Amino acid sequence: MTTGPLLEVRDVEFRYPGKTENTLHNVSFAVTPGEFIALVGPNGAGKTTLARLLIGIHRPSGGRILMEGQDISGLTVAEISHRIGFLFQNPDHQLFEDTVWEEVVFALKNMGLPQEEIEDRANEVLEFCGLQHLRTRAPEGLSVGEKKRAAVASVLAMKTDVLVLDEPTTGQTWSHLEPLMAIIKRLNAAGKTIFMITHDMNLVVDYASRVMVLVGGRLCHDGDVSSLFTNDELIQSSHIELPAVLRLSRALEKSHGFRPCLTTSDLVTQVLGRLQCRT
Ligand SMILES: Nc1ncnc2c1ncn2[C@@H]1O[C@H](COP(=O)(O)OP(=O)(O)O)[C@@H](O)[C@H]1O
Ligand SMILES: [Mg+2]
Repeated sequence: MTTGPLLEVRDVEFRYPGKTENTLHNVSFAVTPGEFIALVGPNGAGKTTLARLLIGIHRPSGGRILMEGQDISGLTVAEISHRIGFLFQNPDHQLFEDTVWEEVVFALKNMGLPQEEIEDRANEVLEFCGLQHLRTRAPEGLSVGEKKRAAVASVLAMKTDVLVLDEPTTGQTWSHLEPLMAIIKRLNAAGKTIFMITHDMNLVVDYASRVMVLVGGRLCHDGDVSSLFTNDELIQSSHIELPAVLRLSRALEKSHGFRPCLTTSDLVTQVLGRLQCRT
C-alpha cells in the first residue's frame, strides 16, 4: 500500500518544439488515491498538454512527474498506460480498429491477457457503457457521443487505478451524459482516482471534490469547489461560466432572499422552504 501521493507533478515546465514560449509554467500538485479532480480553464490554457504529460506522451521540459514516488521519465507510454487510463479529447485520436469490439479488446490483447478474460472484460465494459448494440459497428460511423463512449469503454477495460479523462462529456446528448457521469462516479466510489478535464461547471459542482484552474499554462487555483466560485476575480479573469444553480440562486438573492448555493438539492430545499412559508 502506498502512503504518499499517487501522482506528483513538481515544478513542471513544458515547451512545444519550435515554440519560443512555454505552454506550462511551474505547475505543481499532488494527487491522493481516490480523489475526483476537475481541471478547468479557457481553451488553449494547456489542459490537454498537462494531461498528455501525466501519461508520458509529452515529457516535461523542466521539473518532474512522479507516480508513487517513481519518476515516470524512466517509463514508456505503454508502461504508464497500464497504471493510468487516458481518454483523448478527440475520440478519433483513440479509435483505430474496425469495430467497437476490436477497439475494446485491442489493449487487452497487448497486455497479454488470456482470451477468456479479454472477452469477459470487453463484455463487461460494453454493457457498462451501453454499447453492446454497437459492438460490430465501425467506430468511424458512430456519432461523436457514441465514439466518446467507445473510447471510454476501451480505457475502462484496462482497469487502471487512475483515469485521466479529457472532456469525456463533449458531444454527449443529455440522455447519455448522466449515464456516462454515473459510470465515472461509480468508478470513483470504487476507489479509482479521476482527473477530469471539463468546461462544464455543472459537472464540476456535482462530481468533483477538488478543482484546478489552469490559465495561460499556470495553475491559478487548486482547492475545493466552493472556494473557486466565490473567487469573483479569478472567475472573471479565467472566463469560467458559473454553474447554473449558482446563477439562478444569485439571481433570486435580492428579489426573493435566496442564499447563493451550488447544488440542486440546496436550491430545491430553499424553494420548498419558501413554498411552505406561503401556505
Ligand atoms: N502539438 C502541438 N504543437 C505546438 N503547440 C501546441 C500543440 N498542441 C497544443 N499546442 C498549443 O499549446 C497551447 C495549449 O494547448 P492545449 O493543451 O490543447 O490547451 P487546452 O486543452 O487547455 O485547450 C495552445 O496554445 C496550443 O495551440
Ligand atoms: Mg484540450
